[in-house]
Amino acid sequence: MKIIMLGAPGAGKGTQAKQIADKYTIPHISTGDIFRANIKNGTELGRKAKQYMDQGLLVPDELTCDLVMDRIGQADCANGFVLDGFPRTIPQAEALTNALEKIGQTMDYAIDVDVPDANIVERMSGRRACLNCGATYHIVSIPTKVEGICDRCGSEVVLREDDAPETVQKRLAVYHEQTQPLIDYYQKQGILKSVDGTQPMEKVFADIVAILEA
Ligand code: AP5
Ligand code: MG
Repeated sequence: MKIIMLGAPGAGKGTQAKQIADKYTIPHISTGDIFRANIKNGTELGRKAKQYMDQGLLVPDELTCDLVMDRIGQADCANGFVLDGFPRTIPQAEALTNALEKIGQTMDYAIDVDVPDANIVERMSGRRACLNCGATYHIVSIPTKVEGICDRCGSEVVLREDDAPETVQKRLAVYHEQTQPLIDYYQKQGILKSVDGTQPMEKVFADIVAILEA
């Protein structure tokens, strides 16, 4: 099962992708998490990506595409994978389509988690993220058991640097301009499915499972 999660920043792509990955035992591949891990580890890629991420801009396609193509070619992706945050430009989507075509494959589902902009800023300001294991919480709706500490791995959870309200506005603008066209792109490929991402997260997940098991 090869799945793409589409949706605005903060729509819940990561929250849902992790559950899909657990349920179907396939890797969860988040380009945002990969970039944040590189920033944390002080790599050259991290240094380059940070310049864009801190401004709410997309990291250039040439730094992003090869990374993902390499990752989905690894052995643990043989039975499928869930892509979270990739593709997010038309050239990225085309690179993915072409890479899969070469090995006689196509993506199975592009799931758009639909949340209006008005709900997003509130969600992001309450989000806390574990930069060690990628787990995501919300101070009101999904709090950690111990304040400030990740339930899963015990590391500190933090407000992401790009979750400042003005950066969130910029990310939303970039989303509408560069990523939303992918909804049409995957509609034309016949694999687009939409879920209402404003529902409680368990209900969003149930809707996704219903699509995957239809
Ligand atoms: P990335 O890390 O992908 O960030 P994003 O797309 O902006 O999405 P988020 O991770 O912010 O949100 P999400 O949809 O995963 O929501 P979450 O589940 O956390 O990318 C960051 C940056 O990296 C980009 O800006 C760009 O610079 C760069 N980048 C990454 N990929 C790239 C690419 N392919 N090309 C170029 N650049 C790239 O949920 C949000 C909050 O809401 C959480 O607190 C959560 O607990 C809560 N929540 C979730 N679901 C619900 C619900 N149903 N009800 C209530 N609260 C909920
Ligand atoms: Mg995410």
